[in-house]
Amino acid sequence: MLASALLLLAASLVNARPSKVDADVGFFDPTANGGSWLDNAGTDVGEPMNVVISGLSSPDVLTDDGFLNFARAIGFSEECLDIHLGAPQSANLGDGNGFVNQTIELRQDFGNSELGTCLESLIGGNHLRVFRQNGSEANSGALFLAVSQEENVTEGHTIVPNGYDIGRDALVAAAVGTTSFDGVTYSTTPETLTAVMPIGSAGVNHGISIDGNAILLTVNID
Ligand SMILES: *[C@@H]1O[C@H](CO)[C@@H](O)[C@H](O)[C@H]1NC(C)=O
Ligand SMILES: *[C@@H]1O[C@H](CO)[C@@H](O)[C@H](O)[C@H]1NC(C)=O
Ligand SMILES: *[C@@H]1O[C@H](CO)[C@@H](O)[C@H](O)[C@H]1NC(C)=O
Repeated sequence: MLASALLLLAASLVNARPSKVDADVGFFDPTANGGSWLDNAGTDVGEPMNVVISGLSSPDVLTDDGFLNFARAIGFSEECLDIHLGAPQSANLGDGNGFVNQTIELRQDFGNSELGTCLESLIGGNHLRVFRQNGSEANSGALFLAVSQEENVTEGHTIVPNGYDIGRDALVAAAVGTTSFDGVTYSTTPETLTAVMPIGSAGVNHGISIDGNAILLTVNID
């Protein structure tokens, strides 16, 4: 009786563990261990984490400062604090940490001046939130990014129609290939993770439809 209960427990623990195959490509599927590809943006809705920076990227890229430098190389910078709009969001990456708040929030930089990101807040642009998969149950070190294309501030800073897929594709287009910032040069290769999320708008913030794909980026420092 006890032995069979232990066997059942052992079996459920084995089943709960994310597959090894995922670790080989640098991330664990959050849904394999109770998480989701949608973050938590309010009651029963979320924004898709539609870009993953592989845990097999150069280690420096996966740190806060290193990611910020890479983000600058592809046209983002730290948020304009004076025009900060929107509450932090949280996500469960299936790594045993449960829901954790975003680590960094970045907006597209439209120029080299300090005003760059402030301008983005006024005219709209690309926007991303960063979540790190580093809990002990799925410690890939990968960064999950929720990327969206926003309306300008007069439109109340919501997401443009189809803004998740558009934002993702714009970020990927800017990232793939060779980029550099502050003396660091990056080589980035993409891989499509087809239909890892449900296709359509169910559970998606603002009722915006998504194609269900995420893009895995492996970023190497040359
Ligand atoms: C996330 O941040 C909000 C606002 O700062 C805070 O109230 C909340 O407790 C945080 N949640 C987690 C899971 O850390
Ligand atoms: C903001 O968007 C609205 C609607 O698309 C447009 O009419 C307006 O000119 C935009 N404002 C700026 C500053 O780009
Ligand atoms: C995991 O990532 C979070 C968010 O960046 C960080 O605060 C925390 O220290 C990290 N945990 C470990 C064990 O490195």
